[in-house]
Amino acid sequence: MLPDKAPDEDVFCGSADLKRDAHVASFEKYKELYMKSIETPDEFWGDIAKDFFWKTKHSGQFLDYNFDVTKGKIFVKCMEGATTNICYNLLDRNVHDRKLGDRVAFFWEGNDPGDDLTVTYRELLQRVCQFANVLKSQGVKKGDRVSIYMPMVLELVVAMLACVRIGAVHSIVFAGFSAESLCERILDSDCSLLVTADGFYRGDKLINLKLLADEALQKCRDKGLLINRCIVLKHLSKEPEEILGSQSPPTKRSCPDLQVPWNPDVDLCWHALLRGASDECEPEWCESEDPLFILYTSGSTGKPKGVLHTVSGYMLYTATTFKLVFDHQPDDVYWCTADIGWITGHSYITYGPLANGATSVLFEGLPTFPNESRMWEIVDKYRVTKLYTAPTAIRLLMKFGSEPVKKYKRESLKILGTVGEPINPEAWQWYYNVVGDKRCPIVDTFWQTETGGHVLTPLPAATPLKPGSATFPFFGVVPAILNESGEELEGPSEGYLVFKQPWPGVMRTVYGNQPRFETIYFKKFPGYYVTGDGCRRDKDGYYWITGRIDDMLNVSGHLLSTAEVESALVEHKAVAEAAVVGRPHPVKGESLYCFVSLTNGVTFTCTLEAELKKQVREKIGAIATPDYIQNAPGLPKTRSGKIMRRLLRKIACNEHDLGDISTLADSSVVQQLFQNRCSTAV
Ligand code: WTA
Repeated sequence: MLPDKAPDEDVFCGSADLKRDAHVASFEKYKELYMKSIETPDEFWGDIAKDFFWKTKHSGQFLDYNFDVTKGKIFVKCMEGATTNICYNLLDRNVHDRKLGDRVAFFWEGNDPGDDLTVTYRELLQRVCQFANVLKSQGVKKGDRVSIYMPMVLELVVAMLACVRIGAVHSIVFAGFSAESLCERILDSDCSLLVTADGFYRGDKLINLKLLADEALQKCRDKGLLINRCIVLKHLSKEPEEILGSQSPPTKRSCPDLQVPWNPDVDLCWHALLRGASDECEPEWCESEDPLFILYTSGSTGKPKGVLHTVSGYMLYTATTFKLVFDHQPDDVYWCTADIGWITGHSYITYGPLANGATSVLFEGLPTFPNESRMWEIVDKYRVTKLYTAPTAIRLLMKFGSEPVKKYKRESLKILGTVGEPINPEAWQWYYNVVGDKRCPIVDTFWQTETGGHVLTPLPAATPLKPGSATFPFFGVVPAILNESGEELEGPSEGYLVFKQPWPGVMRTVYGNQPRFETIYFKKFPGYYVTGDGCRRDKDGYYWITGRIDDMLNVSGHLLSTAEVESALVEHKAVAEAAVVGRPHPVKGESLYCFVSLTNGVTFTCTLEAELKKQVREKIGAIATPDYIQNAPGLPKTRSGKIMRRLLRKIACNEHDLGDISTLADSSVVQQLFQNRCSTAV
C-alpha cells in the first residue's frame, strides 16, 4: 500500500540536521514502523504505553472493535482493564518521575505585546490540584459534565485538567460562540457547572464574555435546566484584594471598569474560591474507556454533534502523534496558534505537548494585532522551534507581503505545520520559502475532531513532501478510497476517504446519541469509518484531500454546516426559505453565500441584510457571519423539491456553465438569480 520508492518528481525532504536526531529518520523506517503498527498493534502500542503510568495494567488485546453496522453495535475499546489518570500522566509523572518540575510548561503571551506569564510544570500541577479541590468542593464528581467557556488564558488549561484529575468530563465551548450556541451545548451534555471569565480583548475589541455566559444560562433555565453555579475568572477586572494572593497578576490592559453582571446566588469568584484550596489532590483513577471530554462539532443536519473521547486511547494517540509529527525534542519551544476551544487546541496545545513534557507558547491574541509582524515577533521572543498554524492564517499574512516576516530572524524555526483545511500551493510555497527560509519541512496534517489526532500526515524527517498533500497515514491508521458503490479503489484514484479500522484516538460515540454516531460515520459504507472528505491518491500513493463531500463548509479552517446557517436565517420572520453555499475566498478558504426567499410582502433592503447577518452571528457566532446575502424570490429545485445547491454554488461564483439542468423544475428561476447576484461578489 505504501510506495516502494520515493517519488521521482520534485519533492521536499528534511535536512540532514533534522534527520540526525529524529525519532523517525527515514522513509524506510517509517514504512517499517507502519507495518509493525498494523500487523502487531499490541506490541507497537504496548511499547509506547510503557512510558505512561497505569494504576492497573490492561488485560487482553490492545484494541477491540466493530466497524460494521450489519454485525451489530459499533464500538471501539482500547486497553480494557487498565486504569489511569491523564492529568497524572501530564503533570505528576513529568514533575516527579521525569524530574521536569522546573521546566516551563507554557509561556503565556497575552493579546497585548509585553503582557506575558510563565508557568512551570510544578506550578501547573499545584494550580490544577487547587482548582480540582475547588470543583470537588462545589460537588463536582466523577462523570459529571463541566462546561468551560473561556478565552486563551492559562486558567483554561487549569480548568480542563482539574476536571480530568477528578474524572469529570469537560465540554469546552470556543469563546467566539454565541450565547445560543453555548446554551445548546450545555443542554445537550447536561452540564452541572459552567466555568467562564469576565471578558477579554481580541485585538482592540473588548468581549464581555460574562454577559454572554449569563444569557446562555438564562436560556438554559428557560428550557428547564437549572445551572446554579458559574465560576468566573476575573481576567480583566480583578479587585485589588483579588490581585493580592492571586497567582497571576492582571493583564496589562486590565479593565477594572468592565461591567460584569454578578448574581450572588449563582456566580462564584475563581480567585476567592482558590484562596485556601489545598494544592494536593489525589487523582481519580479512571477506566480506559471512561469518558474524557465532549467537544461539539458541526453536523450536517444543523445540530452540533458532541464528539466523545475516552481516556487511554486518546492519551496515547495525542502523545504519540505530537512526538513524531513535530519530532519533539527536549529543547523545543513549540507553538500551536489554534484556540483550545477547537480540537486542535485540545490535542496539540494541552494533551499531546504536556504528555511529552514539552514547553509551549499559549497565545491569547491575533496574528495581525497590533501589527502583521506579531507572530514573527513571538517566534523570536521565545525562540520557537516548531510552529503549527492554519492555512487561513498563512493566507491572511501573505497579503501583507514578506516584509513584516523578514523584520524578524526566525532562525530558531525547524518544523512548520498546518491543519484545518487543504493548503493551496501558493500558501504552501510562501510558508516554506518566506516563513521557513526554505529550511523547514511543512507537516500538512489531516485530521478531524472525530479522529482525536493526526491521521494522514508527513513525518518531518522521513516523508518526502509534495505541497498540498497530507501524504501518508500515521501509525495504526488504514485509509481507503471508495467509489459511490462502496468499492475500494486501488492505485491512483479519487473518491470517499474512509478508514478500515480504528486507531486509539478515534471518537467513541456522539454523546447521548449512539444511533446518530452510527448513521453519520458507519451507515453509508458498512465496515468503514467515513470521514465526509473527498480524497485523491496519486501515482506515488500520496493522499490529497479534495474537501468536504457533504453539506459542510470550511470557513477559516472551521467546519460549519449549511443547515445550521439556514436555520438561523429562517428564524427571522422576513425569511421564508434559505439556502447557503460556499464561495471560494482568498483568505478564508470559503465564505458563506446565502440565498433567502422572503415572506410575502417583505422587500429586500440593506437594513434587512444587516439584520440577517446579525441574526446568524447571534445564533451561531462571529465565525458564521455571512459574506453575502442575496434575495432569491425562487430557489432552483428538482421536481421532487430538493434544492440544487450545485447550481447555487455556480450562481454565487457567477459561473454560467451550469452542466445538466434537466432535473430542474423551473429553469426561469436560474436566470433571475443571476440577475439578482450580490453586486459585491464580483
Ligand atoms: C478539514 C480539525 C485538508 C477536513 C483538525 C476535515 C483538512 C475537517 C486538513 C475537520 C488538512 C482538516 N487538509 N483538509 N490538513 N485538516 N481538514 O473537525 O475537511 O475542525 O474533515 O478538525 O477539516 O475539521 P475539524
